[in-house]
Amino acid sequence: MKNVIAIMGSPRKRGFTYLSTRRFLDSLSSFGDVQSEMLFLSDFDVELCKGCKACFLRGEEFCPLKDDRDALIRRMLDSDGVIFATPNYSFQVSGRMKCFLDRLGFVFHRPCFHGKTFTSIVAQGIYGGGNVRKYLDFVGAALGFNVVKGSCITALEPMSTKERVKMEKALDAQGKCFHQRLFQPALTTPSLLQLMGFRMARTSIKLTLGEDKRDYSYYRDHGWFSSDFYYPIELGLVKKSAGAAFDWTAGRIYGNRHDAGA
Ligand SMILES: Cc1cc2nc3c(=O)[nH]c(=O)nc-3n(C[C@H](O)[C@H](O)[C@H](O)COP(=O)(O)O)c2cc1C
Repeated sequence: MKNVIAIMGSPRKRGFTYLSTRRFLDSLSSFGDVQSEMLFLSDFDVELCKGCKACFLRGEEFCPLKDDRDALIRRMLDSDGVIFATPNYSFQVSGRMKCFLDRLGFVFHRPCFHGKTFTSIVAQGIYGGGNVRKYLDFVGAALGFNVVKGSCITALEPMSTKERVKMEKALDAQGKCFHQRLFQPALTTPSLLQLMGFRMARTSIKLTLGEDKRDYSYYRDHGWFSSDFYYPIELGLVKKSAGAAFDWTAGRIYGNRHDAGA
């Protein structure tokens, strides 16, 4: 049995974001062996990031905010699959969702959701949600997830029959892809882009941060300064060579910089 949670960014508990996510989860469950739950951000205390960077530099436990960030992260770590669902507000995620993403800022430096499946659902009235969907899928990848392409559902209230049929078709197809990904091997060979992201990040951390910084000690303690990727995976000759080239390039870029004590 796989556990899936949907993090809901709409303040409306029975709005269009809910309806879309409900359809997706029902479709997902119909393929079997999945149990799911929706977590409404409005039920949690998620405060506004103060921008002190204590999480990056000293560690997330030094964050001055005492809210439900860690409880939400724990729920994601305990799940096999995660959905971020949000309305399109002013061509972006809802403020509530963005507030939550900012609270996850340190995880972009130290991704921890490898092997778990992610997708996004964006509900909108008219326009702009395609870019929000792309943004959320990028966020999912940066957090370490295996990303199944999300969907942007467009409808005005009340929803027309045509809009409903289109929505159901899109979410059923997304549910099928998500289900397939959930039951595939969790750890996959990285794409060249993912490999480059890892190699550039680790080299910049190694060359520009002091050992007292949390990003540095995290990478060191996880063996990431000498590993091929975030997790053990066999790379073919092409990716091994590309990895070495990325290391070399990053070394040239960051080699002359010193830790400015940021
Ligand atoms: C503050 C606000 C900003 C919005 N901005 C957009 C927008 O930029 N583009 C769009 O297509 N719809 C926009 N909408 C419409 C919502 O995306 C749409 O009504 C969506 O279904 C709301 O989700 P909900 O039903 O879960 O509340 C906006 C709605 C609100 C309240």
